[in-house]
Order: sequence, then structure tokens, then C-alpha cells
Amino acid sequence: MISTKRWNLTDDANKNKQAIHEAADLIKEGSIVAFPTETVYGLGADATNEMAVKKIFTAKGRPQDNPLIAHVATTNQLRKLVSHLPGYAEQLIAAFTPGPITFVLPSNGTCASNVSAGLQTVAIRIPDHPVAQQLLIACDIPIAAPSANTSGKPSPTTADHVAEDLSGKIAGLIDGGKTGVGMESTVIDCTQDTGPIILRPGGITKEQLEKVVGTVTVDPALADSHEQPISPGLKYKHYAPEVPLLLVEGTAENIQEIIDREQGKSLRIGVLASTETAKNLDAEKVIPLGKNLNEIATNVYSGLRTFTKKDIDLIICETFPESGIGQAIMNRLRKAATETV
Ligand code: TXA
Ligand code: MG
Repeated sequence: MISTKRWNLTDDANKNKQAIHEAADLIKEGSIVAFPTETVYGLGADATNEMAVKKIFTAKGRPQDNPLIAHVATTNQLRKLVSHLPGYAEQLIAAFTPGPITFVLPSNGTCASNVSAGLQTVAIRIPDHPVAQQLLIACDIPIAAPSANTSGKPSPTTADHVAEDLSGKIAGLIDGGKTGVGMESTVIDCTQDTGPIILRPGGITKEQLEKVVGTVTVDPALADSHEQPISPGLKYKHYAPEVPLLLVEGTAENIQEIIDREQGKSLRIGVLASTETAKNLDAEKVIPLGKNLNEIATNVYSGLRTFTKKDIDLIICETFPESGIGQAIMNRLRKAATETV
């Protein structure tokens, strides 16, 4: 166990600056610190320091073959980490950074080899969150950062989620409030000259990408669970809540039928549904996730974390339309689910 220093950011700009400098010093000396980004909280280490990066894998219990994303503040810093940048990647970088998108590119070896888990490529993201940006500028080095959760659990959208999983295992935690997007970044492979391939749907949608570069391919493994995914991390079970999760398609009446059926087996049911559907449902605990897909995206992970074995035996979650950010929401829910009916 190590002691985890927590900085709670407030309206006091000077104090916040001081906190960010303390956090940057810890990262520069090889420790690991969690910080907010616009998608989810990240767990950061100096991406050029192999020993520091190793601490991330240990703290999260992350499989060694699952590479990390290197975060940088600017496009110029991104260029310093890669050996080649295809023209379409330049266009996408100009259109969507800083923002919730990650580019997999040929590595030039600047980042430590365990960031890439031995691959010849490196995933790079320029986050659009003031705290992440200030931390990157204060460090002036690329920061390797996966989501700041225990491997396999839902990603953290608040500092309390991070503390739940990693308190005592990390040197610091910057509390910058609830994250904005709520789903991790879109990961796109930009190593082929033919065009981008979506490896993980996220904050930037396929439709948005296509407006800039025309046709965008999607990793076939995203549609068919029998295919081996291109991205190493996606073969693992992810985002799993503490209790089993059942996804239910259909109307509020359909969902209520399933709730009643499961309650008939003496199970205590927790429900996640859109605000509209939630109004018409009755169970031990019903959490309304929001009025539209963007709101729902920000609340899915905290919803999954709310239910614990102590008071719930089964989570029933509504399925959502797979348009826009709905693609990311359903991708994560399917991975988290035990079953879909
Ligand atoms: O929004 C996000 O992307 C957050 C915040 C903290 O930036 N980070 C995040 O990191 O979600 P993580 O480690 O939880 O997910 C990174 C994903 C994994 O699926 C990993 O396998 C994939 O990106 N990845 C990383 N490097 C890769 C590479 N070189 N080639 C293919 N996939 C890669
Ligand atoms: Mg993750």
C-alpha cells in the first residue's frame, strides 16, 4: 500500500495550478497519478519511462499484452512519437483534436516499449479537458494512460470511482469532477495507406469521421464476437459490474415482464433505463440514465457501479439505439452483459 494524495480542484485557480504542478512532479519522478479527461479518468505515467509504465499494469491488474494510449498536448508532440502519418490521419487530426479520439500509428520508438505492449504501433490521443491539458503541459512529456479502473471493471467517470478501485495503489488522484463524454475515446487504426479502421467506437462517431475522409472501415470483430479483434485489449471481458447484467430489448412493458419474471425467482433487481422508460418501471431500484443518448453515455458506468452484491442480485438494462454515441454505449453494454434477451 502507498498513500494516495488527492487534490480536489475548486474555483481557486492558483491552488489548482499548485495541485497540477505537484501531480506533474510525481509523474516526472516515475510515479503514477490519476486525472480527469473529457471521456473517463486516466491513470498516467511518464510514457518514456518503462518502470513507471510498468506500475500502471500492476496497479490495474492489466494483462501485459494490452497496450496503452500515449497522451500529448499538441499535434507537434504527436508527430514526435510516430514514424509516418498518412494524409487522411492528418485530416482527422485537424478535424477532431483535441478530442475523444485515439490514433494508432507506426511508432518511432520514443515511447517505452511496454506502452505498445511490444507492437510496432503506438496509440496517441490529444485530450480536450483543461486539467488533462494543463497536466500534459506541466509534464512536457507524453503520458501513458489507460482508464483509471481495476482491469475488467467499468471505467471511472468520477474521482470516487477511481478511489474505489485504486486507492493505496497510486501516488495521486486529481479530482476534477464528473467527466463529460462518459465513454472512452474512439480508437482508429491509421497504419494502412488505404484509410482508417475503427477499432473501438467512442466519443467521435463513424458518421463524423466519414464527413472528413469518406469511407471508414469498422473492425469486423465489433459486429461479430467470433472474430479476433485487431486491438489487443478488446478480446478481454470488460466493463463488468459486480453483479450479472441482462440486456433487454423492447418496450417498457417487455422490460417489466422480465423484471417480474426474475423477481419471481426471489432476485433483487436493479434497473438501468432511459428517463422516459424508467418512469414506467417498477423494481427494487430503478436508475434513470438520461433523456437522450449523450446524457445516457455520461451515466452508464456510474449506473453499473451503483449496484453491488449487498443489495442487488441482477441488473436489467434497456438496450439503446445504435446511432451516434449509441454505438459506443451498446458496444460497452454488450461486453459487460452476461446475457441479452
Ligand atoms: O478515452 C480514452 O481513450 C481513455 C482516456 C483515459 O484517455 N483511455 C482508455 O484507455 O480508454 P484504455 O487503456 O482503457 O483503452 C485503450 C484501448 C485498448 O482497447 C487497447 O487495446 C487499445 O486502446 N490500444 C492501445 N494501443 C494500441 C495499439 N498500438 N494498437 C491497437 N490498439 C491499441
Ligand atoms: Mg479501459
